[in-house]
Amino acid sequence: MFSKEETIAPSSFPQACSDSDDRLTPQFRRAGHGLHRASKLLQEDSVSGPAFEIKDRVRQSTDIVDLVGSYLQLRRQGSIYVANCPWHDDQRPSLQVNPTRQSWKCWVCDLGGDVFSFVMKRDNVDFMEALRILASRAGIQLTASAPARPGSVDDKQTLFDAMQWIQNQYHQCLLKSDAGAEAREYLARRNVTSSSIDKFRIGFAPDDWNWLTDRARTTSHSPEILKACGVLGESQTGTHYDRFKGRIIFPILDLQRRTIGFGGRVLPEVAARQQSQGQREPAKYVNSPETRIFSKSDNLYGLHFVRDAVTRPQELIVVEGYTDVVAAWQSGLDNVVAVLGTALNQRHLRLMKRFVERIVLVLDGDAAGRKRANETLELFFEADVDVRVLTLPDEMDPCEFLQQNSAGEFRELIASSVDALDHKLQCELSGIDVTRDTHRASAALENILQMFARRPNTSLVSSNVLREQQMLARMARQFQVDIETLRQRVLDLRGRVRPQVRASDESSSATASARATQLDPKERELLEILLQDESQLNFAVENISPGQFATEAARSLYEVYCERFYSGQSADFTSVMTQLEDPQLKSLLAELDEQAALKRGKTEFDVRQRLEAVIHAFECLNLDAVNRQAIAKLSQPLSHEEETQTLQEIVERARQRQGLSAPTDG
Ligand code: CTP
Ligand code: MN
Repeated sequence: MFSKEETIAPSSFPQACSDSDDRLTPQFRRAGHGLHRASKLLQEDSVSGPAFEIKDRVRQSTDIVDLVGSYLQLRRQGSIYVANCPWHDDQRPSLQVNPTRQSWKCWVCDLGGDVFSFVMKRDNVDFMEALRILASRAGIQLTASAPARPGSVDDKQTLFDAMQWIQNQYHQCLLKSDAGAEAREYLARRNVTSSSIDKFRIGFAPDDWNWLTDRARTTSHSPEILKACGVLGESQTGTHYDRFKGRIIFPILDLQRRTIGFGGRVLPEVAARQQSQGQREPAKYVNSPETRIFSKSDNLYGLHFVRDAVTRPQELIVVEGYTDVVAAWQSGLDNVVAVLGTALNQRHLRLMKRFVERIVLVLDGDAAGRKRANETLELFFEADVDVRVLTLPDEMDPCEFLQQNSAGEFRELIASSVDALDHKLQCELSGIDVTRDTHRASAALENILQMFARRPNTSLVSSNVLREQQMLARMARQFQVDIETLRQRVLDLRGRVRPQVRASDESSSATASARATQLDPKERELLEILLQDESQLNFAVENISPGQFATEAARSLYEVYCERFYSGQSADFTSVMTQLEDPQLKSLLAELDEQAALKRGKTEFDVRQRLEAVIHAFECLNLDAVNRQAIAKLSQPLSHEEETQTLQEIVERARQRQGLSAPTDG
């Protein structure tokens, strides 16, 4: 059962640029442009986000076919690739990847863009986070601090490499060493299969102070590095020891499938031996401390499996223990993750919200589990995500439940779970008759309202108002009180509880959404011309300014073109795409690009003629606007000369508009 010789090395990502020259810092900003006309745009740009060079370097190190292909099944179709779009119910492959343009597009979802917007969509993150993810994937360091020296404790990649090595040492030890025999028997006794051991890369650390340091001696992984990884402790006399010795090792992987920490469960035989030698009972679990690469609040055990699942589940089941996750996957449940020896918090919820709409917290049926159910309500009030709670019966944890019951029965329990508010109401109200036992009822209600009042005051966002109303209505119904009374009480409490005002996600993303078909036709034509032939930019910039644009999304795109022109940088599709950060604008640019390509063979006019027509259309518009102003001016009291002059100008422009050349003198 445990005779497997080789372990599967975790898939490692290309480290395209790992030498220190490639570690760019934000100081590496655009330089060497001097034209005055551009100064405003450039100032705006230089305060907004990372320098173009960094984005460009990250983009260049990321091939869109690799990136999309590592996540979706791609099929070649002529010069492009296609895949089933994960964001709609796709019957035929409607997501296209264009390797030449390094762009992607789903016409059904009307989504598209470049590598950045793909990650933004896939992981539901903002541009900066997508940049970080892709930079890290490509081995490019983004931090402003001086780049860490490879091999030093400050260099994350060095720690990742060491963690990978350590993980493999423990894993191999469990698989085939004599020291691992007891651990193998223990896991077999607990019905942990060898395929689970492979899947989760479970390992064993022998009960020996120096086992790991001895093995590391012939490698580049110095004790300092192992300490920075959190696997070595240091005694008061300064000697190092293996923090996980005598424990079954559960490696914790991040979303990039890198080992970042460990959970170590003591092997009962080891604990028994230690106690028989007069030592005190060891803790059941030891977990990695927070390190440069490991944060308990930003990771969940098993989340990368869920992220990489072929069909993404609608809900995530969060359990308390590593063994619960292993047992769940062994029973065929593929949407179970665990918190890492810490309570579920807001950061966890935000992380999960990127992937699913609903989270079911499954708590052990013991007293501690019931207490944590209470704490979840506070989280739920603040979270704006559907958090359900399930407390297992009979003091069981999910692992034990699944030993005695089928996965189907577990799923049934999950399906019966209620949201955290209902869970709390049920707990508080069980055994209380609200009409008679008014004292206890109002104490319970007050307790809940106090938690509720701490929730951030997001009354500017209508969906939140609705959600608050619904929650108050549920409380009012359960406690049989008037909802107005509750609302007033919450207002009073909020007056005292300092509201934690947070910039709401929803209110900040109001701008710039547009489909190409919704753009003003001449603006759209101009952008398509520039996409087709960037050498027209010069002529365009001389004749059309961004201020003349009517649609905001198109203007934002054109501003990027102008900015690049004025600073002497190329404005080809890829550069413009790379400079953009807003996913909507990226998507729009990709769409315009595809349409420009379609149009190419279909029009008899060359791009220059098309551009002249566009410029003419803008000029007419301009004249119209100026004339409107002039006509408005005429309705005000003017001197005779002023009036004559204004009228003359109006006539002049009318002539221009009809293409008549105006007399230049007399
Ligand atoms: N835990 C911890 N420290 C402890 C006990 C528990 O950090 N001393 C954390 C671990 O992350 C553990 C989880 O809480 O996985 C759940 O604890 P428990 O239910 O006691 O352990 P199980 O994971 O269920 O392990 P087993 O199945 O071996 O009992
Ligand atoms: Mn447990």
